[in-house]
Amino acid sequence: MHADHASTVTVTTPGGRYDIRIGGGLLADAASWQGLPAAAHAVIVSNPVVNALYGDALHSALSGAYPRVSRVLLPDGEAYKDWNSLNLVFDHLLAQGCDRKTVLFALGGGVVGDMAGFAAASYMRGVPFVQVPTTLLAQVDSSVGGKTAINHPLGKNMIGAFYQPARVVCDLATLATLPPRELSAGLAEVIKYGPIADMAFFDWIEAHIDALRAGDRAALAHAVRRSCEIKAEVVGQDERESGLRAILNFGHTFGHAIEAGMGYGAWLHGEGVGCGMVLASALSAELGLVPAAFVERVARLVERAGLPVQAPSMPGARWLELMRVDKKAEAGSIRFVLIEEPGRAAVRPAPDELVLRVIARHTAA
Ligand code: NAD
Ligand code: GLY
Repeated sequence: MHADHASTVTVTTPGGRYDIRIGGGLLADAASWQGLPAAAHAVIVSNPVVNALYGDALHSALSGAYPRVSRVLLPDGEAYKDWNSLNLVFDHLLAQGCDRKTVLFALGGGVVGDMAGFAAASYMRGVPFVQVPTTLLAQVDSSVGGKTAINHPLGKNMIGAFYQPARVVCDLATLATLPPRELSAGLAEVIKYGPIADMAFFDWIEAHIDALRAGDRAALAHAVRRSCEIKAEVVGQDERESGLRAILNFGHTFGHAIEAGMGYGAWLHGEGVGCGMVLASALSAELGLVPAAFVERVARLVERAGLPVQAPSMPGARWLELMRVDKKAEAGSIRFVLIEEPGRAAVRPAPDELVLRVIARHTAA
């Protein structure tokens, strides 16, 4: 069986070199699972929603490559990206007598991927894992680059590890079952690559946004491939975010504050990022880095992607408190990914009054 729109992007980091395989039908293609680390046991980490859709297909495909395959299902949703869910993975691995060669397969969106990755990083101090992302967001971003984490009530993704997968397998066919709201959330992370790295890609997204929202396979294949190429390039230069990698957090300082402030799961991660990109662009304009027309352009595309462009109402002090927990903050000073010119970003501080003014101007009445 051959996947349609198939392509491969390679990620090269000090923590590992691996392929991102992209194509329609890869899940059931035996070739997708060849050449991975050998083990007596493969464990699929998923949730009940994704397992019902794709668990059996992956289980039977892996049965051709591993003597034993088992599954552990975690509760679905951002609100469950926590210690309790992580422990369910460890409980399963220990109860099943899994050794340090056991390979974990993260089947699901970014929530499953981040937790399975962190479990793999820490079980017996590290076992191999494979990302099998089934949301657009996970295929274009979270499955690539080795960031794994769980949330803390005081801040998002605060407890985790850098740990690279052995492979990423993006089956584009899985996107057909994604609810429209989740597809839109994934488009936020696709759009982000334009202002930070590639305005020609931004032009392309503007021209294909309707096709992407309609689930056009060729358009999605291009969006996933180009996003993965850009992410691989950035992560290859700065695996552990000592500098450049922070640009991938464009819109995230505002977005994480919205997610935590509204209660995890109320706003989807991609929705927070979509609105956050409008705010970060507006802040860049306030600082004289980009023209107002650029902010309008970003906002228009975010809106056409089906994402919110107006921030939720929160007291200014609460915004600042939430944003100070951001991992880019240094000595309590909040730092933002700002657009220095369309296609190029940098991390910089900004005065609180200016930040609050930008938020107020973009808050729904
Ligand atoms: P998610 O994992 O919650 O998935 C969204 C919803 O879609 C869930 O209900 C899930 O069960 C369902 N679903 C998944 N695949 C499906 C399919 N094919 N068909 C139907 N339903 C499906 O959310 P997400 O947007 O994929 O990921 C968001 C998470 O990713 C956040 O926790 C965010 O912090 C994290 N993230 C991590 C990184 C990183 O570098 N590690 C980068 C970006 C985001
Ligand atoms: N999503 C941000 C990063 O991977 O660095």
